[in-house]
Amino acid sequence: MARVLAALASKRRKGWTSQLMAAAREGIESVPGVEVETLNLHDYNFKVCNACFNCIRSDAHLCTKKDDMGGSGELFAKLLSTNGLLIADPVFLWGSSALVHTFIERMYPFIWSGVGNGMPFASISCASNSGFQHQASKEIAKQVFNFGFSYIGCVPAHVSYLEAAVERARALGAVLGAAAKADMERGRTKLADRDKFAMYAEPWDAASDYFANLTNGDGDYASSMTHTALAQGAFKKERALVALTKADELLESSFENMQRGDRDTAIDLLSDGSALWTEATWREFLEEEVIGVEKPKAYRPVEDLL
Ligand SMILES: Cc1cc2nc3c(=O)[nH]c(=O)nc-3n(C[C@H](O)[C@H](O)[C@H](O)COP(=O)(O)O)c2cc1C
Repeated sequence: MARVLAALASKRRKGWTSQLMAAAREGIESVPGVEVETLNLHDYNFKVCNACFNCIRSDAHLCTKKDDMGGSGELFAKLLSTNGLLIADPVFLWGSSALVHTFIERMYPFIWSGVGNGMPFASISCASNSGFQHQASKEIAKQVFNFGFSYIGCVPAHVSYLEAAVERARALGAVLGAAAKADMERGRTKLADRDKFAMYAEPWDAASDYFANLTNGDGDYASSMTHTALAQGAFKKERALVALTKADELLESSFENMQRGDRDTAIDLLSDGSALWTEATWREFLEEEVIGVEKPKAYRPVEDLL
């Protein structure tokens, strides 16, 4: 049997978020050969990441914390053995809840080990007051992007249209179930960086948001971090400068392609350029002073690009 882990983040165990998750569960179980393990994140013990960076430094890329999301933790083990993950989250303060943010934050080791890359993933965000369920869904998509989870979709829900949302949750569950089944039968399909940027377009557009951040929000490449860093001599280390110079070239070209609407070319250039920007900042700021090791090979390799 293929397995999907369905994680509820609401303390109201029979509330609206739970109703939506139950519908998604029906959808998942409508796929023959797929079973669901439902759990409530409130029943597990895990706290925020301490930023000790052991998950980066150690060969096994595991967390040393002795709680349920640590390297030998019960909840972490469930993530390692599942074929798919569903998170059902109440909207808190116009965004995703702190519990879900912490749960995803503690999956940080996945970035360095590459474990989880390609795992089918979906989410539900349930609001009942002023809303912002769409914002919450976007936040969750953004947080899991770096792990390369295979993004199936989301249901941003408000209880004012609960019935329609229940139907959408059931439909989302069926798609997640089918993806989990394929994950078990055919093995995991790993995503390259360019696949990730192409896949994460709705509800959160990874490529557009990447440039919004890189250009400090003003959408003009002249004020991008790579241009400014080069002009102001912010990077001093030779190895970092080599990566930065190449990153700047590729990212500017990607930006131009985005602006003229050639998204495919833009994404190709963005996946290489952003890997080099990550490499440059790593070499300049993190390698010696913070982490003390070279960037692990599983994470955004750049050997072919320099
Ligand atoms: C700390 C906190 C913040 C909240 N913020 C929002 C919000 O920004 N928007 C909203 O529509 N509902 C908000 N709510 C209401 C929850 O989203 C509500 O519990 C939600 O509909 C989930 O349903 P459930 O509790 O039945 O699972 C908030 C609740 C709490 C406890």
